Amino acid sequence: MFERLSRQPDDPLLALIGIFKADPRADKVDLGVGVYRDEAGHSPIFRAVKAAERLIWESQSSKAYVAPEGDQTYLDLLWTMVGGTASPVHAAGVQTPGGSGALRLAADLIRQAGTGKIWLGLPSWPNHAGIFAAAGLKIETYPYFDVPSQSLQLDSMIEALQRAEPGDAVLLHASCHNPTGAPLGAEDWARVTAVIAARGLVPLIDSAYQGFGAGFDGDVAGLRAMIAAIPEALIAVSCSKSFGLYRERTGALYAVAAAQAAADTARSNLVAIARTSYSMPPDHGSAIVKTILGTPDLYDDWRSELDSMRQRLATLRRAFADALGDRWSNSLAIGRQEGMFSLLPVTPADVMALREKHGVYMPTSGRINIAGLKLADVARVAGLFKAL
Ligand code: LMR
Repeated sequence: MFERLSRQPDDPLLALIGIFKADPRADKVDLGVGVYRDEAGHSPIFRAVKAAERLIWESQSSKAYVAPEGDQTYLDLLWTMVGGTASPVHAAGVQTPGGSGALRLAADLIRQAGTGKIWLGLPSWPNHAGIFAAAGLKIETYPYFDVPSQSLQLDSMIEALQRAEPGDAVLLHASCHNPTGAPLGAEDWARVTAVIAARGLVPLIDSAYQGFGAGFDGDVAGLRAMIAAIPEALIAVSCSKSFGLYRERTGALYAVAAAQAAADTARSNLVAIARTSYSMPPDHGSAIVKTILGTPDLYDDWRSELDSMRQRLATLRRAFADALGDRWSNSLAIGRQEGMFSLLPVTPADVMALREKHGVYMPTSGRINIAGLKLADVARVAGLFKAL
């Protein structure tokens, strides 16, 4: 059987992790995969995560299965974090292996129950298209961001969504857009909500960076306003960045509906899909998140550490945009974007030259992870971009 297989290329973004590690240069810079780093280039474990792990180690007495949908307390606490306490909507969630697991479950549900079509912004996280195609969805695209001018293409986005058919799904990023760093503003969310409501579309909102952009509640303000105004939505949540739990694969998918019975029915379908895929979700990461969200001291400490990460990112961003000066016609927009990423108007040849000559690593798309910069490197790295 295996003789029929041909070797698959490595995922270009994930392959960068190994290529960067193998580079012996001391002054190399990793602007590749989206992982938060401190000024020493280290991806720290949150203090609250360590403390929660200690509590779990001391108190957990069994590794028996939890439940097909995962841990209900985790799901409730995480929903309060994302949806808010004043949320008037009905939601039912399942715990998933990371945000990607949530997106795949959502895609399978859309294939079963929806039109089988999803609208994806250009550009988007490269794995979005891969996940949706693997689930058999037909992918339509809407313009989102123009790289040379570093600007949102909201009018074109709305125009494209006006052509969507009732029941089509629409992928949106809650905040800290990956790969552009350009979020929808409050008025933009209102316009997108209006077209979604008018056309009867179903948003699938990917929320993977809460706390890294406009602030803890600000990063989900658009999401909350949208789900309060429309009858149905799917919300994919990742705890990778907000809790620094990358390798623990911790996430959730929520079905939001006008009535609790409809949300519960959607959830029963998600549980059935998961059962024939990975059966039940991993527990360790969600046990950590549940402990942090449910323990006031740990919660406060986690929020303050997350906030210091957000501030560091914002400082790096401004410093980098200032150092770029007028390198591109709208370089300053990079300073106003948010979260880990920006998408620079560079060519794949530029990217390879930076990698080979200077040890500066990023995917050929030109996406940079701002968190991979150190303040001490900003001037040098910006200088390399200016010299291209
Ligand atoms: C990224 O975009 O760098 C992260 O979301 C990691 C990944 O899985 O691609």
